[in-house]
Amino acid sequence: MKIYVLGAGSIGSLFGALLVRAGNDVTLIGRENQVRAINENGLRVSGVEEFTVHPQASPTAPDEPPDLLILATKSYSTKTALECARRCIGPDTWILSIQNGLGNEDLALKVTPNVMGGITTNGAMLVEWGHVRWTGRGLTIIGKYPAGEDPFVEKVAEVFRSAGLETSVTESVIGWKWAKVIVNSVINGLGTVLEVKNGALKDDPYLEGISVEIAREGCTVAQQLGVEFEVHPLELLWDTIERTRGNYNSTLQDIRRGKRTEVDYIHGKIVEYARSVGLEAPRNELLWALIKARENLNKPGGEL
Ligand SMILES: NC(=O)c1ccc[n+]([C@@H]2O[C@H](COP(=O)([O-])OP(=O)(O)OC[C@H]3O[C@@H](n4cnc5c(N)ncnc54)[C@H](OP(=O)(O)O)[C@@H]3O)[C@@H](O)[C@H]2O)c1
Repeated sequence: MKIYVLGAGSIGSLFGALLVRAGNDVTLIGRENQVRAINENGLRVSGVEEFTVHPQASPTAPDEPPDLLILATKSYSTKTALECARRCIGPDTWILSIQNGLGNEDLALKVTPNVMGGITTNGAMLVEWGHVRWTGRGLTIIGKYPAGEDPFVEKVAEVFRSAGLETSVTESVIGWKWAKVIVNSVINGLGTVLEVKNGALKDDPYLEGISVEIAREGCTVAQQLGVEFEVHPLELLWDTIERTRGNYNSTLQDIRRGKRTEVDYIHGKIVEYARSVGLEAPRNELLWALIKARENLNKPGGEL
């Protein structure tokens, strides 16, 4: 399969490396430093598995349309990235988002009707340019967005499985996107404001109670929108916390590195969707504002 990975950072490089190792025709589209490192020395994977591959890498999308374009930028970069890659999207090209947050697939739908949503619990971290650490093996769930089935989704799942990525297909991917964003609204929201490892949210009775309240708020909004869950977000929340109890969440890591976070696409989207159906989401609104304030304090002239 001819595959472009748009956003060759942590998770994009991991998926790209596994897919090229399995014999797919993969091009990683990334920033200059990453592209140069891959072209000079290849792409090294360490952690769960150790190997080096030599995919094609480019700072811009090649002209020829791929079968599949995997969106792997942070959510705040999606709009610009899709604009840059637009000319390579052919009539038969499918776009798959493996990003967190809501709204990425909706942006992709403006470019083509062939859109898949996805979530992944694989963990990846760019150690240095050209070297990605696979920090944890996980499950990837993909489906036609917002819902439904298509033979190409099954084909992609098969390609992913052949590459060593455990993958399931769903006919209700929007439910999974919402479940994951609700999990992130708790773990990334509360975990960042309190600067605690994920396990604390389950171990402390006060935090456990607040976690349930935040998750229920997101569930109410989703249900009002008619979103159906294949797994209850609270079940996914406790399972995720258990599997990652020793980790600090990615939003807190971004704050500590002075980087922008994805909260506009997690809490911000839950608040936006709540308002669209005449609801309020005060817990998400508060977490959103607190983390945006932390982002501002990181900026030049801020207090941190
Ligand atoms: N890492 C994980 O373990 C993991 C797991 C599950 C889901 N996710 C989700 O996957 C998404 C990506 O996360 P990540 O951790 O892989 O982020 P990341 O390490 O920041 O990777 C994204 C990369 O895309 C690059 N990029 C942005 N716009 C681009 C463009 N127009 N052309 C080429 N490259 C571009 C970024 O460069 P700049 O930094 O210069 O913008 C960055 O190198 C997020 O939504 C995240 O929540 C991540």
